[in-house]
Amino acid sequence: MNKLTIKHNELTAEEFISLWESVWGGAPTLEQTSLAMEHSMFRVSVYDGEKVIAMARMIGDMGLCYYIKDVVVRPEYQKQGIGRLLIDELLNFIRENGVSGTDIFVELCAMPDKIPFYEKLGFSANEAQRLRRMYRVE
Ligand SMILES: CC(C)(COP(=O)(O)OP(=O)(O)OC[C@H]1O[C@@H](n2cnc3c(N)ncnc32)[C@H](O)[C@@H]1OP(=O)(O)O)[C@@H](O)C(=O)NCCC(=O)NCCS
Repeated sequence: MNKLTIKHNELTAEEFISLWESVWGGAPTLEQTSLAMEHSMFRVSVYDGEKVIAMARMIGDMGLCYYIKDVVVRPEYQKQGIGRLLIDELLNFIRENGVSGTDIFVELCAMPDKIPFYEKLGFSANEAQRLRRMYRVE
């Protein structure tokens, strides 16, 4: 592995889709993804040479809401500390941009098998359940 490069707010929709496909398949459309990149509060991406190998982003309002989304490390790069690096980058963003002297909840939603990863990084579950519905836009 070459020296890794970390970029802020440069993750493109195409890179997002490529990383999404590498772990989940069935990526969202380019139009949806482009809007999501444009309106994210903070994006971090990691490169091995020219190749994008990991991403994470944060959505929110800079005041009260900091929500972590789409934390992905390309499978062949997992278990090498890159996931931890992504979360550290997101937390640094809050440290540098959050309102001084306040406590800020950083939230995310995780599948059960990923909860131990987040627990290692200081997150814990509460009793709230995730509710959702699919909404069709015609
Ligand atoms: C979850 C994910 C981001 C973790 O990235 P990673 O680069 O493998 O994680 P790291 O190597 O930085 O791991 C940090 C620590 O968490 C542990 N860890 C990582 N994944 C774990 C898992 N699934 N279960 C338990 N522990 C895990 C590591 O062993 C490491 O522990 P250590 O510091 O004691 O050595 C990666 O597996 C991934 O992209 N998965 C597919 C996409 C996904 O599901 N993302 C999460 C969305 S909620």
